[in-house]
Amino acid sequence: MLKFPDKFYWGTATSSYQVEGGIQNDWSRLSGGQATAGKNYDAGLACDHYNRFEEDFDLARSMNNNAHRFSIEWARIEPEEGKFDQNEIEHYRKIILALKQRGLEPFVTLYHWTLPVWFAEKGGWLNPEAPKYFEEFVGKIVLEYKDLVKFWITLNEPNIYTLESFLQGVWPPFRKNYCTMNKVLKQLALAHRLAYKKIHQISNQAQVGITSCNAWYRGITRIANYKWNHQFFGRIKDCQDFVGINYYFTQSVLGFLKLINVIKEKNKTDMGYLIVPEGIYHVLTSVRKYNRPIYIFENGLADAKDEKREKFIIDHLKWTHKAIEDGVDVRGYFHWSLIDNFEWDKGFEPRFGLIEIDRGNNLKRIPRESSKIYSEICKNNAINI
Ligand code: BGC
Repeated sequence: MLKFPDKFYWGTATSSYQVEGGIQNDWSRLSGGQATAGKNYDAGLACDHYNRFEEDFDLARSMNNNAHRFSIEWARIEPEEGKFDQNEIEHYRKIILALKQRGLEPFVTLYHWTLPVWFAEKGGWLNPEAPKYFEEFVGKIVLEYKDLVKFWITLNEPNIYTLESFLQGVWPPFRKNYCTMNKVLKQLALAHRLAYKKIHQISNQAQVGITSCNAWYRGITRIANYKWNHQFFGRIKDCQDFVGINYYFTQSVLGFLKLINVIKEKNKTDMGYLIVPEGIYHVLTSVRKYNRPIYIFENGLADAKDEKREKFIIDHLKWTHKAIEDGVDVRGYFHWSLIDNFEWDKGFEPRFGLIEIDRGNNLKRIPRESSKIYSEICKNNAINI
């Protein structure tokens, strides 16, 4: 038995556009014509989590979770510039209360990649005023929920978002320009810094940070390590109360690991990512230098058959435990994801859920076998190896 520290947070993570359904934003509007060939950007009904959140949180509770990470959709709260929708504000209040009633600590993401249409039309993050618009939205939200929420994650993965949207050009606004990507990264760092200060002006219990998709770089690929893993944290390091890590990737020199793993097919997820549990240890130890509590806000895999998830979870937690033993202050683990969801431009096929969503049967929720193991781990605050 490897025990985790007392008061460790165990949860799962989701994001609004990927699960809620019925959202009008810069992605959904691409349903007609504008989308790149063969891709669908409209999540439609998604998992209807907007209406079924209580059922979903009951499932999280039955997995012995004590926390949950979700995001608030800016486009719902401020569908038109400067006009805030009180009904939607009340909706998210219900969500937060539903979590608390079930003993799940809410961890709220304020930006998980999707934007209100009006903001996108103003140039989105490239608009010089963008950080101020974001600050205003954040101020409104925090004023509403400051007594209910302690943990605020301003931005989800600035590195992945800017790569996909501004360099590779596969997500809105489909730009392919290295300088533009860097400009947006700076805008996001500024947006975070403004939001950080705003949240602390309003709430005296707040803990504020971002979460970044950090990778383990091996061999000569380490040259990219600073740009991908540390540049953004460096820009906000005096404005974060915790460090958030999402771990999915390892990069290795000459594709060596890739080669070995292609031979042993079993080490890949349904999306073709290599499974390298040890990487989480290196990613965690590498952010110790920021001297803040660390949360793993995402870790998971696409595995429709649920053949690899159980081992995946245990192996990643084994390495997380080792990091903790070596003095890294890790305070929580959130598995991605609670339910199968809309995997961005890849649609509904990749299955990341501990709970399956049966899309052919009224979006029925069906717990996968691996959810039982996760449930045991959360109950015992320990893994059995
Ligand atoms: C994102 C999620 C996404 C997951 C799996 C993360 O980069 O934050 O929105 O679904 O990876 O690909």
